[in-house]
Amino acid sequence: MRGRAEDLLAAVKSSRTLAPGVTEIELELPGGVEPRPGQFLHISTGETFLRRPFSIAGFDRSAGTVRIIVRDVGRGSRIISGLRAGDRVRALAPLGNSFPMDEITGLLEAGSGVWLVGGGIGIAPLLFAASEIREKAFRVDSFIGFRDNRSVIKVEEFEACGNVSLSVGGLVTDALARAMEGGVPGLILACGPTPMLRALREICLDRGISGYVSAEERMGCGIGACLACACRASDRDGRAYRRVCRDGPVFGISEVIL
Ligand SMILES: Cc1cc2nc3c(=O)[nH]c(=O)nc-3n(C[C@H](O)[C@H](O)[C@H](O)COP(=O)(O)OP(=O)(O)OC[C@H]3O[C@@H](n4cnc5c(N)ncnc54)[C@H](O)[C@@H]3O)c2cc1C
Ligand code: FES
Repeated sequence: MRGRAEDLLAAVKSSRTLAPGVTEIELELPGGVEPRPGQFLHISTGETFLRRPFSIAGFDRSAGTVRIIVRDVGRGSRIISGLRAGDRVRALAPLGNSFPMDEITGLLEAGSGVWLVGGGIGIAPLLFAASEIREKAFRVDSFIGFRDNRSVIKVEEFEACGNVSLSVGGLVTDALARAMEGGVPGLILACGPTPMLRALREICLDRGISGYVSAEERMGCGIGACLACACRASDRDGRAYRRVCRDGPVFGISEVIL
């Protein structure tokens, strides 16, 4: 079992379109790699100078495959979306820290709820977290939002892990705030657009709920050396920075300035 990042040669096992401009790709990694929910791959097809980071959306231990969900937003993601079975890429993996699975399990064992909050393609790392929680025989409720009906993906996979509140065209945080009238969870895990994370942070701070967010920044090296991915942290002097690739991508919801 290997959790340390390595530059791996990965083979594309399958690729399928989930929604317009959104592709799910299954990659076969060399044996023994053991990613954790929240971690990501830094992928090179050899056609762009810089690699591109993608969250691990699922891991099949017996097959040794990981899944990523790629939204086509530019040249790099378009090339990766176009990969087909049999193609090979290089992937630095697994990179970054992860959602705190021991803390999550402890809370669930104590009967406290853990809720997932995802917007758009931000559902990707939450899907991996949901399936790991389900493997431990717990349930997790999800609040997922998409901008329109054509963009809705992966609802059934979240439903297999617990209750799902789906928002289409509205704010996922509105659905979340309504649900909290019936009680609050012990912990929230989130990933999505910055305005959604900001609103979520307010909700968590107002109600004293702990949360973790998976942050996104443009990346260079992916391994903590170039500082391209620095984001501001909310230290007392307001001048601290964190590297999303190395210190994150998972941060406490009040740790980074969103
Ligand atoms: C830790 C991490 C995990 C990620 N996971 C996923 C994922 O699971 N699925 C997914 O589709 N994307 C994910 N991303 C974002 C993805 O890496 C970028 O969309 C991709 O690198 C863009 O490359 P490009 O060449 O296609 O776009 P470019 O041509 O470089 O840029 C196109 C547009 O996308 C914006 N953009 C580029 N990079 C980022 C970024 N890192 N974050 C936000 N906006 C960006 C640019 O500002 C520009 O508007 C993740 C990013 C990080 C840092
Ligand atoms: S991408 Fe180089 S330090 Fe994070």
